[in-house]
Amino acid sequence: MCGIVGYIGPKEAYPILMKGLHRLEYRGYDSAGVALMDQEIKLYKQKGKVSELEAFVKGKDVKGTVGIAHTRWATHGEPSQINAHPHFSETKTLAIIHNGIIENYSVIREELKRRGYHFSSDTDTEVLVHLIEDIKFNEKVPLEEAVRIALTQVVGAYAIVIMSKLSPNKLIAARKGSPLVVGIGNEEFFIASDATPIVEYTKDVVYLDDEEIAIVERDKELSIIDIRKETKTPYVQKLEMSLSELEKGGYDHFMLKEIFEQPRAIKDSMRGRLNAPLGIVKLGGIIDYEQKLAKAKRILITACGTSWHAGLVGEYLFEDLARIPVEVEYASEFRYRNPVIYEDDVVLVISQSGETADSLAAIDIAKRNGATILGICNVVGSSIPRQTHAGVYTHAGPEIGVASTKAFTAQVTILTLMALRAAQLRNTISTTRFNQLINELDIIPEKIEAILRQNDKIKKIAAKFKDSRNFLYLGRGYNFPVALEGALKLKEISYIHAEGYPAAEMKHGPIALIDKEMPIVFIATRRGMYEKVITNIQEVKARNGVIIAIATKGDKEVAKMVDYLIEIPDADEVLVPLLAVIPLQLLSYYIAVMLKRNVDQPRNLAKSVTVE
Ligand code: AGP
Ligand code: GLU
Repeated sequence: MCGIVGYIGPKEAYPILMKGLHRLEYRGYDSAGVALMDQEIKLYKQKGKVSELEAFVKGKDVKGTVGIAHTRWATHGEPSQINAHPHFSETKTLAIIHNGIIENYSVIREELKRRGYHFSSDTDTEVLVHLIEDIKFNEKVPLEEAVRIALTQVVGAYAIVIMSKLSPNKLIAARKGSPLVVGIGNEEFFIASDATPIVEYTKDVVYLDDEEIAIVERDKELSIIDIRKETKTPYVQKLEMSLSELEKGGYDHFMLKEIFEQPRAIKDSMRGRLNAPLGIVKLGGIIDYEQKLAKAKRILITACGTSWHAGLVGEYLFEDLARIPVEVEYASEFRYRNPVIYEDDVVLVISQSGETADSLAAIDIAKRNGATILGICNVVGSSIPRQTHAGVYTHAGPEIGVASTKAFTAQVTILTLMALRAAQLRNTISTTRFNQLINELDIIPEKIEAILRQNDKIKKIAAKFKDSRNFLYLGRGYNFPVALEGALKLKEISYIHAEGYPAAEMKHGPIALIDKEMPIVFIATRRGMYEKVITNIQEVKARNGVIIAIATKGDKEVAKMVDYLIEIPDADEVLVPLLAVIPLQLLSYYIAVMLKRNVDQPRNLAKSVTVE
């Protein structure tokens, strides 16, 4: 999972490439590099972030109107200058950038070594560039043909861009399993892992499909072939993204901006789909499949990380409202455990990026077993929506902070709409309850605004707990997935150990951890299993635990029992996750800021996990 940018056109490539890398840095940030075509290929790379590459390159020759650049998230070989991309071929004629994994790299590497090739890095990528050179030399074919032949020999996932000193006005790009977009400007082309480096130059883009190779050449039209040598007609799409969505807009971090964008993200996700006054829920993207959904014997929800937590909320929603049995699976487990899938199952895949490798593999298995596959995704044109039978986009807008926030609440919003629609079709909900829930959902954005206004209060609580080393998050029912998500947010960005549990499970083990040093975050809202949670709070108090509670506004009982209180507006239990998660996001954010963590790009993580 790394970021790729390429440029060819009349302008100087370097500034465009660097700006693009900054936009893609969420995808990986352990090293970065750039190659520019002048008379020779000039190649600069550096360990660390894009800014470190820029500092290293300062004062050096960066002339050239053709270039490729990369920000890496290492899979093979430690993050280092040597392993950073681009990689040269043996004769330094070719340079490559790559996102993904070449699984059979060691066999190819041994063979190439026998033929006299030298390897200067530990990456899997380097085999590809040597292999292309070897084919080009032996077969005496044009570059694109050498790339095509090489790609028929590799197993794995790739998005690559290659430049050649011998064809200085051409870039070859190809993808399988990792995303790649070509932007078509005025006598110029852009290539990138997603549209963010392209949007300010052109709105016309072509998303490459798996096993497609794009030949991008100065003064020529974009041409695409696939690895079977078939010519493809480029399908040009218009980008809807705006530049301001990609900037921090006055906030210190993207994460904070994205937390504050949630009322808007939810409204946008409901727009055209929920008409509360008329009592209508309509999901255009799955309209042809809603009968399948309603008649499903079972829904299998599969996802990773935060999207998996949204899936757990989905389980409560579909079972509670539509009475359809649901199983929620980590995509990484699902893909390898020989799951039982029936043709009348609906498999629902949830993903912000739409590029998560495990989730894509889960789709593959479900497809092979004949199930109907629906998606909930945020990134338009990404791989998951292209692999599913149908789906619904969350309109959260680009999420750049590595820790997912607005994508989660947008996913839960869509799941709520889907479950309500399924319940309506199945007659498992009364009209009164249906209308009550959609009317409440309609005003959830305003309730979130009210929580966001408590920002300063949450910041003060964060200051008290920033030095804690462990946290427990407890909730029941609809709030159990929220507890898991709260714990994940804290550990990802502050590096504090945190665990989420169903509150009642505490007495089966985690209770042993409780002492006066241990902060416990209780989600204790008034509806649902309120009384039971109160009992769990008492159990913690009896053992001197320190409690931070997320409770319903005006709840005096909880207020009396706990050490710190964050109030949220009252809402039906079904909708509470959309509210309860907000203070937990802010709490994690402020703790991480106070610990001087890199909030938007936490260590070891990357935004989209396009490798296993
Ligand atoms: C969220 O904060 C995480 N960075 C991570 O768990 C993420 O949700 C997971 O990798 C799934 O990504 P996706 O939604 O893009 O598929
Ligand atoms: N597998 C390649 C490497 O380790 C590319 C990783 C990536 O996608 O960033 O360098």
